[in-house]
Amino acid sequence: MHPGVLHRRFLNDLSSSLFSFVLPLLPTNEELTVKEEVRGLIEKLIKTIEPSARLLSFGSSCNSFGLRNSDMDLVVLIDDPSAGIEPSHFVAMMGDLLERETNFDVKPLPKARIPILKLTLAPSPALPFGIACDIGIENRLAIENTRLLLTYATIDPARVRTLVLFLKVWAKRRRINSPYRGTLSSYGFTLMVLYFLVHVKQPPVLPNLQRIAPITPLSEEQVMLEGRNVYFFDDVETLRQEWSSINYEPVGELLIDFFRFFSHDFQFNNSVLSLRAGQLTKESKGWVNDIDVGGLNEMARDRNRLCIEDPFEVTYNVARTVTKDGLYTIRGEFMRATRILTQRPDRAVLALAELCR
Ligand code: GTP
Ligand code: MG
Repeated sequence: MHPGVLHRRFLNDLSSSLFSFVLPLLPTNEELTVKEEVRGLIEKLIKTIEPSARLLSFGSSCNSFGLRNSDMDLVVLIDDPSAGIEPSHFVAMMGDLLERETNFDVKPLPKARIPILKLTLAPSPALPFGIACDIGIENRLAIENTRLLLTYATIDPARVRTLVLFLKVWAKRRRINSPYRGTLSSYGFTLMVLYFLVHVKQPPVLPNLQRIAPITPLSEEQVMLEGRNVYFFDDVETLRQEWSSINYEPVGELLIDFFRFFSHDFQFNNSVLSLRAGQLTKESKGWVNDIDVGGLNEMARDRNRLCIEDPFEVTYNVARTVTKDGLYTIRGEFMRATRILTQRPDRAVLALAELCR
């Protein structure tokens, strides 16, 4: 058989293997129901401290990139400005309350840079993996970036969700998804995939939602949140009718291209990935990484090894946790993945298994 035909067959095989790989890792309806009940219960308790408080989910439980048994990310929003709530104080009060009224193991971290409360529920027959949840206060930007990610996923769920979910599983299995140990958060990997689909792939798989003009002009007040411009085109119905990609690459091909791009083409030393604006230079952002003096600069140096601009907090490097060693490991994993997928084994399903070993 012609090599081109074989290759095409492998790519189709890889795409269907990716769908089958991801499917059983999605959260069950039962899990989603339990988590929603937990959120409702905690919200009810919190309202006894501050009636105008609401408890919202963000992150993977509602950006459509959630895996089975993932942590819950929750945030308290206080709607009454006259309540005058101080986050660290509120975290401490919530800690006392939940300790008294629930079976959760409660760990308040009121003195952290961003005060949060950590809750865990030990595994039980009904919840074999227990529940782990972080509750933050007033982090409204996180709600907006969750909505942005969800909107991107909604445009082309079959390809976008499959790619992101696979990448998340792969990164966890290969142990390069630990911000505390020098590698990258799930949020960071998700932004890399979206950047690739918006800015690298030609023709693009996704439009740049932050660059599509609103249907009716919006005032400054409508788009600003905590001093950040959080505008993006979020009218999914209009997008469905008026935007469709002319890139029809199967998801397996996109995965290989993703790994190949980050193995060989992306200039990690001097480039910044910006979902908002495409490829930027570290210099233009002031995220330079080779200041040669020690002390404080030593920290600054390691903070900007890998640079991923947050879509709204544009002065913030989402990948600041990635150390020199961490980046070396991540790049090594991209290369290993490219190698495994382009050696064209007979069976795509075996390639995926080896990839995630
Ligand atoms: P899993 O928990 O691994 O399933 O993934 P996740 O999609 O929940 O991602 P992660 O836990 O890394 O982040 C959860 C949410 O927190 C993200 O969707 C963002 O809204 C927010 N977030 C995480 N890290 C950052 C960060 O570095 N900067 C900002 N601005 N927001 C972040
Ligand atoms: Mg999370």
